[in-house]
Amino acid sequence: MSDNNETLESLLQEKRLFPPPESFKRAAVATSEIYKEGEDPEAFWARTASELHWFERWDKVLEWNLPFAKWFVGGKINASYNCLDRHIGGPSRDKTAIIWEGEPGEQRTITYFDLYREVNAFANALKKLGVKKSDRVTIYMPMIPEIVIAMLACARIGAPHSVVFGGFSAEALRERINDAEAKLLITVDGGYRRGKVIPLKQSADEILKDTPTIESVVVVRRVGDILRTAMRQGRDYWYHDVVSGAEEYCKPEQMDAEDMLFLLYSSGTTGKPKGVVHTTGGYLTGVYTTFKYIFDYKPEDVFWCTADVGWITGHSYIIYGPLLNGATQVMYEGAPDYPGRGRWWSIIEKHKVSILYTAPTAIRSFIKWGTAWLEQYDLSSLRLLGTVGEPINPEAWVWYYKYVGNEGCPIVDTWWQTETGQVILTPLPGVTVCKPGSVAHPFPGTGAEVVDEHGNPVKPGGSGYLVLTKPWPAMLRTLYKDEQRYIETYWSRFPGKYLTGDGAKLDEDGYFWILGRVDDIIKVAGHRISTAEVESALVDHQAVAEAAVIGIPHEIKGEAIAAFVILKEGQEGTPQMQQELRAHVRKKIGPIAVPETVIFVSELPKTRSGKIMRRLLRDIASGRAPGDVSTLAEPAVMAELKQKYESQEAE
Ligand code: PRX
Repeated sequence: MSDNNETLESLLQEKRLFPPPESFKRAAVATSEIYKEGEDPEAFWARTASELHWFERWDKVLEWNLPFAKWFVGGKINASYNCLDRHIGGPSRDKTAIIWEGEPGEQRTITYFDLYREVNAFANALKKLGVKKSDRVTIYMPMIPEIVIAMLACARIGAPHSVVFGGFSAEALRERINDAEAKLLITVDGGYRRGKVIPLKQSADEILKDTPTIESVVVVRRVGDILRTAMRQGRDYWYHDVVSGAEEYCKPEQMDAEDMLFLLYSSGTTGKPKGVVHTTGGYLTGVYTTFKYIFDYKPEDVFWCTADVGWITGHSYIIYGPLLNGATQVMYEGAPDYPGRGRWWSIIEKHKVSILYTAPTAIRSFIKWGTAWLEQYDLSSLRLLGTVGEPINPEAWVWYYKYVGNEGCPIVDTWWQTETGQVILTPLPGVTVCKPGSVAHPFPGTGAEVVDEHGNPVKPGGSGYLVLTKPWPAMLRTLYKDEQRYIETYWSRFPGKYLTGDGAKLDEDGYFWILGRVDDIIKVAGHRISTAEVESALVDHQAVAEAAVIGIPHEIKGEAIAAFVILKEGQEGTPQMQQELRAHVRKKIGPIAVPETVIFVSELPKTRSGKIMRRLLRDIASGRAPGDVSTLAEPAVMAELKQKYESQEAE
């Protein structure tokens, strides 16, 4: 773990401690008592689950048949009922649920009652289009209110949603639709990104001939006449047409606690994305509870999570967590630097945002752009800050604390994953003394350990593999149609313990520090990308014989992608070829997976059994002396690779 040791050194340079401000502590939702309560996880989770609405209460809190969990066995519940109906009977009926800002500057304010009406109408429209309980619905949309409506409408009728990030390519969309065997696709004519219109329906049209299970497509009109959107008769319907005639009320389906609420595809260590399965009762309990305590939620708060709904952060902390709590939140469609680099700060000032939840990569961009951008705005409404998605370097943490939080806001650095569904490691804002760069402790009712390669817990001060030791309510239940892969990926390395794929350190005070992935997953600007996925996109190009992909440190994005490529006989490694390969990856996966660097080589470092040693490629890319090369089939290849890498770097 030589890469990790470097990360660790930089993390540990910052020694200051940041206790919660006294005034924050006095009014905090969570007190230190909550850790005591969490010592009996089943009682703790049952207590918080009871704050939700159940059509029928569960018979048993947890049935743990390792590695298969069932939470709230026998309970009947509906996600959309809990996000909407539960609030509209009381004073929250006219409370703002979403303040939406479009990139070009429009604004929509949507109350809980507005959302309730829209969701009911669209749920009825979906039924009319033939969607039934347990049919999968794929959603391919940008950050507009209709994505919230679409997800809750699916949840209302018991049809699991499978949201595909709007920045994925059409081919990535096809793969995910076909794996889910989705019956219906919900998309949009186009969305705005840095002033440009991204035509999503047009992209979807490229692949809809190869998605045999899709019967209908519903299209939201977002950009209108700017695009000429082709609609196929009998298959494609405008959203506004299908809702305009729909009945007002749709009875929510009584879902079993263990019925699937959604599927979300995530990168694994092979080229094929994994369909992570989340069920209803436990997931809702997990995100409801963590939102309430980690974000210290109070009814007057204005929450803003800057993630895209297409990722798990958006599912748990834009859709379900805030809406289950009846919160008011901001949703923004576009880029942070459009039309200027002060856009986010203007949003915070205008809507008096009190809680901001974002990613380290965004913070590092702001540092680079300079403080002048935020000094023009009044950010005094902020009282709590959060980060997620990748390790935060202490410099970025301290900058966030000082310039965004004006040295008065606690920062919650939350560690979790698509698979965990809810935050697992985090400080609690009125309780924990924060250490910049550390994710502090397991949330009450959950368990984590750092173990050595034999699965034994390391002593304080040691580092190793991060594992989770107790089942938690929002945990993934399986991988869609691939139970074997579920068992192998998460539960085989250390029996009885969930393998996260991350390296971590436990310090002398019992704080956890995340060191980054120890498998072949890269985090580029917080986005999760597997090396195998990018490699298979590269070898799909007719000129490529072989490819190996690694993550290299990047000042803003945390990591960037470097690809080592062997071309077929007769092909030339020209700058045009580099461009062509980058464009090919963009087409196969999407802009987030495009390699920053493409290096043409004639050999790759392989073991005698033919396995590529990416560790050695990482050594070359970071200018380190290569580690142990004794298992290489051809040790001489290292000299050639080093020379090629350095000469291409110099160009
Ligand atoms: O490596 C960890 C990193 O993100 C991975 C999970 O990625 P994904 O499923 O896309 O979910 C991201 C948003 C929840 C983890 O295995 N990660 C996430 N949060 C942190 C983090 N690394 C360090 N610190 C964090 N706070």
